[in-house]
Amino acid sequence: MALKSLVLVLGFAVAIVSAAEYRRPPPRNSLSRSLVKELDDVDSTSPQQVHISLSGENNMRISWITSDPTPAVVYYGTSPGANTFSANGSTNQYKYLLYKSGEIHNAIIGPLNRNTVYYYRCGSTSSPELSFKTPPSTFPIKFSVLGDPGQTEWTKTTLDHISKSDYDVLLLPGDLSYADFYQPLWDTFGQLVQPLASARPWMVTHGNHEIEKIPVVRREKFTSYNARWVMPYEESGSSSNLYYSFEVAGVHVIMLGSYADFGPDSDQYRWLQSDLGKVDRSKTPWLIAVVHAPWYSSNEAHQGEYESVGMKKAMEDLLYKARVDAVFAGHVHAYERFVRVYKDEANECGPVYINIGDGGNREGLASRYMDPQPKVSGFREPSFGHGQLLVVNATHALWSWHRNDDDVAVASDHIWLTSLLSVSNCS
Ligand SMILES: *[C@@H]1O[C@H](CO)[C@@H](O)[C@H](O)[C@H]1NC(C)=O
Ligand SMILES: *[C@@H]1O[C@H](CO)[C@@H](O)[C@H](O)[C@H]1NC(C)=O
Ligand SMILES: [Fe+2]
Repeated sequence: MALKSLVLVLGFAVAIVSAAEYRRPPPRNSLSRSLVKELDDVDSTSPQQVHISLSGENNMRISWITSDPTPAVVYYGTSPGANTFSANGSTNQYKYLLYKSGEIHNAIIGPLNRNTVYYYRCGSTSSPELSFKTPPSTFPIKFSVLGDPGQTEWTKTTLDHISKSDYDVLLLPGDLSYADFYQPLWDTFGQLVQPLASARPWMVTHGNHEIEKIPVVRREKFTSYNARWVMPYEESGSSSNLYYSFEVAGVHVIMLGSYADFGPDSDQYRWLQSDLGKVDRSKTPWLIAVVHAPWYSSNEAHQGEYESVGMKKAMEDLLYKARVDAVFAGHVHAYERFVRVYKDEANECGPVYINIGDGGNREGLASRYMDPQPKVSGFREPSFGHGQLLVVNATHALWSWHRNDDDVAVASDHIWLTSLLSVSNCS
């Protein structure tokens, strides 16, 4: 009894101390009930869960779902109501245990002009009109970075902040819906992000929550993710939707796959080598990578996992030698920024590693850090938020982290990055 109260008192004391360090936001509810209701109100041939992604230099992939079969056609043009152009795509469906997905449509439209607003309708000319803006052809360009979003009221706050940030392209380092085998949550996630993801390209890679393999019962991995979030892997010479690259406005972006094989004999490794070999820094002065499981983290969560440690061991050299400027990761539900680092030591030619897994999912924050803070860890804080990378020109980019508790205009952490191309010792 005495021991039990001592433990309680100690626990309470620890709670008070950490509460003094950070004003931790309280948990918020999952949104699924209201999102399910929204989906119930959509009629069976209306497009839902619309999202768009870059496909090659001048095209956009439009993805959407209908409950009943409808044509996979997109009508689009540069003024409201225009049907100047149309493009036909394809439709697929998947089954997962007793769940059968809606009709998942994908159509590639273009060629499109840069920095231009397009109006479009999915499935028929009488569908609701949506619009998006294509990214610019050159600097400046702004990326938003959203990690591990899930679908809670915190996620909604993060999305509200991002929608006010006037960004061009969103990068998502994995763990999207937190459906966790319950497939209708993929649909509610699609509905939650549609207002943003139908208006700007969302470029995603997978996390562990996308695997959805069930021992004995279901061996196939990434079924839902690969059906719903097709990325430009074929366009970038990859044989798998689990890793790919793309180029936009002078930035080459590599989307790695933590849960696909990454060893020196793997397809992903060979693809990465060949993709890095094709990078032309005179055309894309900036080179960044995105991955789910962080290679650098001083948070206590997920320490020592194979996907972090093993992948770092296998691929850190490739990224270092290619002079990758920055690597964004998720998985750990907190924010942390490292200095330029290589093999655990500060190194002016290494990438800046940034963990941004704090989008707001239902698992909550990862609040415990290793003590003392490693020298190479520049800033760390367990709060929900998102990041912005404003690439100003060929040499300068401003990275900022925006905590949800503050106004979006407030950068809770920010740093100017200089592209490694312009650092004479490194080029
Ligand atoms: C799309 O398919 C429809 C029906 O098969 C056809 O009439 C139309 O010409 C096609 N449009 C394009 C742009 O290929
Ligand atoms: C690039 O942007 C930085 C930051 O705004 C500025 O100081 C620098 O002069 C710019 N470089 C060029 C070549 O315009
Ligand atoms: Fe994760």
